[in-house]
Amino acid sequence: MRSPSSSGGVARRIDYFFRPPLLKTCARFITSHAIFCLLITVSVLAQTHEAAKAGSGINDPALDARVDSILQKMNLEEKIGQLVQYSAGQATGPGTGRTDYEDMIAKGQIGSLFNVVDPHQINAYQRIAMEKSRLHIPILFGLDVIHGFKTEFPIPLALASSWDPSIVEKASRVAAMEASADGIRWTFSPMVDIARDARWGRMAEGAGEDPYLGSAMAAAYVRGYQGSRLDSPDSIAACAKHYVGYGAAEGGRDYNTTEISEHTLRQFYLPPFHSAVHAGVVSIMSAFNSLNGVPSSANPFTLRQVLRKEWGFRGLVVSDWSSIGELIPHGFAIDSTAAARKAFVAGVDMDMVSSVYHDHLQELVSSGQIPKADVDEAVRHVLRVKLALGLFDHPFVDEAAAPKALYHPESIALAQTAAEHSFVLLKNDAGRDGKALLPLQKEVQKIAVIGPLGDDPSYPNGAPPDAGPRVSLTAALAERVGKDHVLRFKGTDVLDGTDQEIAEAVSGAQSADLVVLTLGEDPGMSGEAASRAHLGLPGRQEELLESIVKVGKPTVLILFSGRPLTVPWAFEHVPAVLAAWLPGIASGPALARTLFGDVSPTAKLVVSWPRSVGQEPLYYNALSTGRPPGKIDLTRPPNDTETKYVSRYIDEQNSPQFPFGFGLSYTSFSYGATTISVQHLSAADLNKASADVTAITAEADVSNTGSRPAEETVELYIRLRGTSINEPVRALKGFQHVAISPGETKRVKFNLTSDALKIWNDHNQFAAEPCELTVWISPDSAHGSPAQADIRP
Ligand code: NOJ
Repeated sequence: MRSPSSSGGVARRIDYFFRPPLLKTCARFITSHAIFCLLITVSVLAQTHEAAKAGSGINDPALDARVDSILQKMNLEEKIGQLVQYSAGQATGPGTGRTDYEDMIAKGQIGSLFNVVDPHQINAYQRIAMEKSRLHIPILFGLDVIHGFKTEFPIPLALASSWDPSIVEKASRVAAMEASADGIRWTFSPMVDIARDARWGRMAEGAGEDPYLGSAMAAAYVRGYQGSRLDSPDSIAACAKHYVGYGAAEGGRDYNTTEISEHTLRQFYLPPFHSAVHAGVVSIMSAFNSLNGVPSSANPFTLRQVLRKEWGFRGLVVSDWSSIGELIPHGFAIDSTAAARKAFVAGVDMDMVSSVYHDHLQELVSSGQIPKADVDEAVRHVLRVKLALGLFDHPFVDEAAAPKALYHPESIALAQTAAEHSFVLLKNDAGRDGKALLPLQKEVQKIAVIGPLGDDPSYPNGAPPDAGPRVSLTAALAERVGKDHVLRFKGTDVLDGTDQEIAEAVSGAQSADLVVLTLGEDPGMSGEAASRAHLGLPGRQEELLESIVKVGKPTVLILFSGRPLTVPWAFEHVPAVLAAWLPGIASGPALARTLFGDVSPTAKLVVSWPRSVGQEPLYYNALSTGRPPGKIDLTRPPNDTETKYVSRYIDEQNSPQFPFGFGLSYTSFSYGATTISVQHLSAADLNKASADVTAITAEADVSNTGSRPAEETVELYIRLRGTSINEPVRALKGFQHVAISPGETKRVKFNLTSDALKIWNDHNQFAAEPCELTVWISPDSAHGSPAQADIRP
């Protein structure tokens, strides 16, 4: 049984590499790859939470003396240089027009460059810093290493759907080993923004809508990237982004304004950042959005009060791309001097790309608008990270060694395991023979793979087409059942299609025994600047879907996407639907193994799946209204006074298509009633109790009622009623993975600490309060048989 710690962090997991499939893989490669296996295993196993924190180095007092001795030698221009960052490769935002980086580095005017991925180029820039600049301060090279560097893992939304932080930790360890071998020592990841709106394209880059799960994942990424020691050459600095509230963009439109109450900020949006800081993250990126009227990249409340003062963060705050310059179009600064001053005073240390620190900090210091001591403090944050990374001692990358670290077979095997753990089985109805369609029978004669995303190994993954050894789903199926048994029809493109292609696909379906439909979004349709106002299948894919299903062959729909898609017709008419997200380099084999039942799906949704775009933003942990609707009957007339005056739509259910936490398996599970026993039941005791002491124990029986052994993610939710401020109708406070054999029942037990019961109250403090407590141990956020207790004063 694997469980996260109930203190909000996640207990150390060391079992992953001992699971049979991976152990076998390691054994197979043991001769040729022994060193690699040893390295990654030791590297991950060695990490405890505390070790990761100590290894992060920025909290090591010994560093401070070194930082100060460097600082003493620096003139103002060199200090400001450390606070300046430019993109020098493939642009990931609008440019500044600057390209004179060599000259600037030689003058000590640049502290960091990013988007350079060629180790030769990295060394060339570094040589200028180390040999030509006066103080030989190394450049810190960064990149958006989001879900793997070269060995591409499933997108973060998919990784989070595993509900398994150990997978995230290992994936980011591989990413760190590959990126660092190329000379990149800083990733702008993890994105820990809470995402409640599927229109927002960046939902793909995060861990979904829940702060508890998001916090577990945030810490796992940090441990993986930063390793047990940050100064190890294969560790990279992590950067928790986008601080803060970026995911709450109004209308789901990227970069848009956000309004978030302090209660919601503290209880929902801040916790994953706090968790990253607690895990030792050494950098934070300030966001583009304006938060309650104050842009996040110039927000002294979130940056100075919360991050520095309350959480004691000692690392580096970098702006997002040009987000300091963008204070002008926000209307928050009237010119670039004011933008530089406002961002700096609020606590942003490094200016990504907009160049306003380079252009104006000197004059702001000379005119006394910015104290010299504050510049020193910002430079300390940067130098601390560089020193903690060991960059001063090892500034260069070994160019010859770099290729050996990439696409290692064990890394690809891990990417495949991660993908298999990220597919969410949404529907799996019985066919005419009374059996569920999935897993597929081994003796299936002819499979037609239809749809734009079935055969391009470069497509459903988000990586450049040339990258690495990829196998498409069609190729993986052909390898498995024989080429002659697999037919392939594109049907349509993602965004377009012709009548003739659809007709060919329909006749292809007619000649097959089974259809695998591969529909959805291409990778460019999610991520940054990829918000959608419509969440259905793009182009003519809905038409293709309906034409193929009408042929009447058993059909499995695989949805590829960076977000949930509203396809109600499919959920009604297609017997089996699998959400595959964007699965990464091993998508083909992982999907083939899942379809044929070598593995049973275990993943569960980390976002509520909408029925209709009009329901967005949609999230399970919402507050109730004074007029909750109860069961909605859409067949009653909209003006029926008995059902009219409640909080509902007249033309749609309030409930999602599939709730947060939902995911089927090839077996079935049943849950008994939740019981609780209480160690501390007064708010006063809970507020006194130490954070690692159990306050409440909750238990329930979970039985495997199907015919396959499988693992179930068991979830624990609470509700608090009668508090000084409204609390959500349910809040996740624990989860465990439990392996259960057919016919077996396991008693699953959770220990909750007092932290689980603390809320941001009407006195602006985290505290437990007298209330009525309800606890569910359940398969998702919408089911379960609850237990209740009263928390006394
Ligand atoms: C803008 C994005 O918002 C951010 O996530 C990314 O790290 C930077 N561009 C750098 O590419």
